[in-house]
Amino acid sequence: MEYVSCEWIESRLVLEQRAVKFCCIGHSGNKGYVPICDYDGGKLPVEEIKAARKRLIEQNNGPDDTLCKGCHFLQKKDWDAERRTTALLDTVYVSNFSICNLHCRYCFVYLEEFTPVSHVAGYPLLPVFEQLVQEGHLAHDGKIEWGGGEPTIVKGFAEIMRMLMQTGHTQQIHTSSVKFSPELAEGLRLGKVQAVTSVDAGTRETYKEVKGRDRFDVVWESVGKYAATGGDMSVKYILRKNNSDAENIRQFIARCRGAGIKKLVLTPDFREIAQQQVTEETIYGFALMVDEAERNGIPVQIRDEYLNPEQMRMVTKYVPLSEKGWRYRLYEAKASARKALARLTKRTRALGAALATQRAIERAQSLLEKEASIVHPLQLLEPSEREAPILGLLERQTLTPHPRLRAKLTELANSRNSAVRSEPVVLGISADAWTLDGKPGYVIVDASASPQPVAKDMWFTCWADKRDFPVRLTISDGIGEDFEHTFLEPTQLRVPLPEVPAGESRIFSVKTDKTWRRTSLNDPREFGVRITTSI
Ligand SMILES: C[S@@+](CC[C@H](N)C(=O)[O-])C[C@H]1O[C@@H](n2cnc3c(N)ncnc32)[C@H](O)[C@@H]1O
Ligand code: SF4
Ligand code: SF4
Repeated sequence: MEYVSCEWIESRLVLEQRAVKFCCIGHSGNKGYVPICDYDGGKLPVEEIKAARKRLIEQNNGPDDTLCKGCHFLQKKDWDAERRTTALLDTVYVSNFSICNLHCRYCFVYLEEFTPVSHVAGYPLLPVFEQLVQEGHLAHDGKIEWGGGEPTIVKGFAEIMRMLMQTGHTQQIHTSSVKFSPELAEGLRLGKVQAVTSVDAGTRETYKEVKGRDRFDVVWESVGKYAATGGDMSVKYILRKNNSDAENIRQFIARCRGAGIKKLVLTPDFREIAQQQVTEETIYGFALMVDEAERNGIPVQIRDEYLNPEQMRMVTKYVPLSEKGWRYRLYEAKASARKALARLTKRTRALGAALATQRAIERAQSLLEKEASIVHPLQLLEPSEREAPILGLLERQTLTPHPRLRAKLTELANSRNSAVRSEPVVLGISADAWTLDGKPGYVIVDASASPQPVAKDMWFTCWADKRDFPVRLTISDGIGEDFEHTFLEPTQLRVPLPEVPAGESRIFSVKTDKTWRRTSLNDPREFGVRITTSI
């Protein structure tokens, strides 16, 4: 009988931190993941999983909205006729830990790292797999897909791998390849394991920028050793805003050749997809990468598992390059004309603002002279009447920036800051660190007395009610490209601010496009985003 369902609901399970889930990416817009129930190790609640599966199928086939409706995996067909096993599961995804040896800028492990320390390493997995195998809940030819966190540094990883190889189950292991695992190499050699490493860079500098640590050489060394086993070793490249240029692509393919890679997988950054931030350069990068790989005899595939047909069309827009590359050159010509015009407009605006900026510098100087005699207990400037002049000057700086005004405002902020000077100062926010009433907050990063460049991460929290989302956050210093993020659900986001050169400072404005109000507490304030240096 035909009914609406998906492969995840029918035969898969995701072991998450403190929960089990049906699937592991938010497929239906901003509806989030589809949970089954809480779970924190011990006996797997098999009956509860069966009941939740039955309930979700009924709901997905009923008239009411569900977390699944809108997902492109949901299909109407005869699922029973297609079933390959009578066991409860044919695939188990392991993601119950977030311990890791990299800080990839696109990854939830880094970006939303608010797992309590007690849960970073996850609950013991060996008993879970023993139960699944012994009670026959996992198909005899079932598959285990390791995500996480970094599996090779999880306690018991080698033991579980060996056990699952003995029981004849296949495993796919997503690994950073920072740590070389002899068990993984052995599994590859025996053809019982597939491994994937997302390298995401062709140069050491880009690797460090995308992956957050300088592990380029050691990773290529491990990847080469895994490939030399002759097993199923893939290298992946997540094409995104800072790694899609021709230089990185060419050097990456040369490295793949050197390491003997026989399988290359490409994907976009799913966050950029969700945020609608995939650039034209990245889309062109897909075509360039496919072209370069094919010319070097490396089989390449754009992984479509998580992309809907429209997204797939977008990332393959310039493939094959030989036929469609001219469209990008046309795009580039138009974009460069647009940029030239924007530069001209900006210069004209700066000229117009020069007098006002000069007055602002004088105003900042006079405030500074007055401020010197006042002792402030707080570094925060609540957006009150008294502070309005300083906040006005900060706004001017982030709209029409000027190095002298920036230096004066940094000095002004530091004159009231008792904290360590290299720590960012946050201004214009409430005492509990929120931007209020749609007004911007400001972050000052001061490297003026530092012998080294200063790079800082900040945390931005949005806890709006479901009906208030999406909330768009914009961080801007008026000089570089603005950073934009759309909050689709209540979350805390880590953002690495651009590196500030030694001897300089930067002032960033932080704005949201709308405000929201607490529903439960009796708090009349209109919130934007919470700005903190840690969580
Ligand atoms: C979370 S990682 C964990 C496994 C392992 N540490 C690794 O790096 O392969 C699982 C997979 O998700 C991918 N991933 C994480 N964030 C992503 C994003 N924003 N877009 C696309 N893929 C992403 C990684 O590349 C990796 O292949
Ligand atoms: S959201 Fe999509 S993939 Fe996840 S369980 Fe629902 S239909 Fe399946
Ligand atoms: S190595 Fe894997 S888990 Fe760690 S931050 Fe990178 S993608 Fe995420």
